[in-house]
Amino acid sequence: SSLKKLLLTEVEPPSPTSGSKITIVGVGQVGMACAYAILTQHVATEIALVDMNANKLKGEMMDLQHGLTFLRNVRVNASTEYSVTAGSRICIITAGARQQEGESRLNLVQRNVNVFKTIIPQLVKYSPNTVLLIVTNPVDVLTYVAWKVSGLPKNRVIGSGTNLDSSRFRFLMSEKLSVAPSSCHGWIIGEHGDSSVAVWSGVNVAGVKLSELNPLIGTAEDPEDWEALHQEVIQSAYNIIKYKGYTSWAIGTSVAILCQAILRNQHNCYAVSTLVKDHHGITEEVFLSLPCILGENGINFIVHQTLNEHELKKLHKSAKTLQGIQSELQL
Ligand code: NAI
Ligand code: 2OP
Repeated sequence: SSLKKLLLTEVEPPSPTSGSKITIVGVGQVGMACAYAILTQHVATEIALVDMNANKLKGEMMDLQHGLTFLRNVRVNASTEYSVTAGSRICIITAGARQQEGESRLNLVQRNVNVFKTIIPQLVKYSPNTVLLIVTNPVDVLTYVAWKVSGLPKNRVIGSGTNLDSSRFRFLMSEKLSVAPSSCHGWIIGEHGDSSVAVWSGVNVAGVKLSELNPLIGTAEDPEDWEALHQEVIQSAYNIIKYKGYTSWAIGTSVAILCQAILRNQHNCYAVSTLVKDHHGITEEVFLSLPCILGENGINFIVHQTLNEHELKKLHKSAKTLQGIQSELQL
């Protein structure tokens, strides 16, 4: 008999799956940054990777597995077949085309819609109770597409949205003030990327609103030009893509923290892309980021920020742009 049989007496065969399973579709730069952040932050008990590139998939799976000795023994599986994803509590989608230098996110849309039409039905088939977490760009439009194609309730279809933009903003604010990013509070909402909205009225440290110290903050008249920080947030991805070809690490950590909030039913508040129709006077059926409370069934609440006229106008303009794009899509 085998060494295993001499060493171990079986009481009951081990369960093939475990409680906190996350699927990641797309093992490119973003998918692997998400996987690595999820592993090192101990967010999941099991990770399933899917891609159409079988060799890359196998290589990435093996490379992650070989580090498990130094982490917790998370189960890491990979396959081009979607059966490997069965029973996932969260399915993260990072598959699809990314921007070339100077290209806008919105330019990727129909290519990535076609990718989604093949992926989403498979995920829902194997994990009907899953939360879908969309990362592929343009993330707001593709979250709408995922919602439509999946037939899942709106609370369970979430876009990574401006959680990343908000983190970029808080980092830049921290550099300017010499206060840690986690102690700098500010929210970027709306479209992830080019038309995002900085909610200057709420930017604060320890509850002290910067707008009370500098009433011109965020306006063109501000002598300190704080709006330059927001413009830098908008330019961030273009600059990083120019320097290294893609963005990965920050979106990876941003996604891991969202997964943690969902799997642990934490009720944390993050800016994520959600169906915003009937919020802030938006009439279009589009997804944009607003601060949301996340729990195990996805989005539980949307926080109603007090927005000024300028902020509302920008939000309404993004909603119209996105609806224009959505009306041309072949779903
Ligand atoms: P990448 O090119 O490195 O990886 C994409 C992966 O998707 C490849 O491994 C490819 O084989 C796979 N793929 C393509 N079609 C597929 C299909 N039908 N089924 C399964 N796998 C498929 O690209 P990268 O850099 O990882 O970017 C991925 C996406 O994430 C892009 O759309 C990018 O714009 C977006 N992104 C979004 C961010 C956000 O904040 N929402 C941040 C950074 C990137
Ligand atoms: C980012 O903002 C490209 O959407 C991606 O990093």
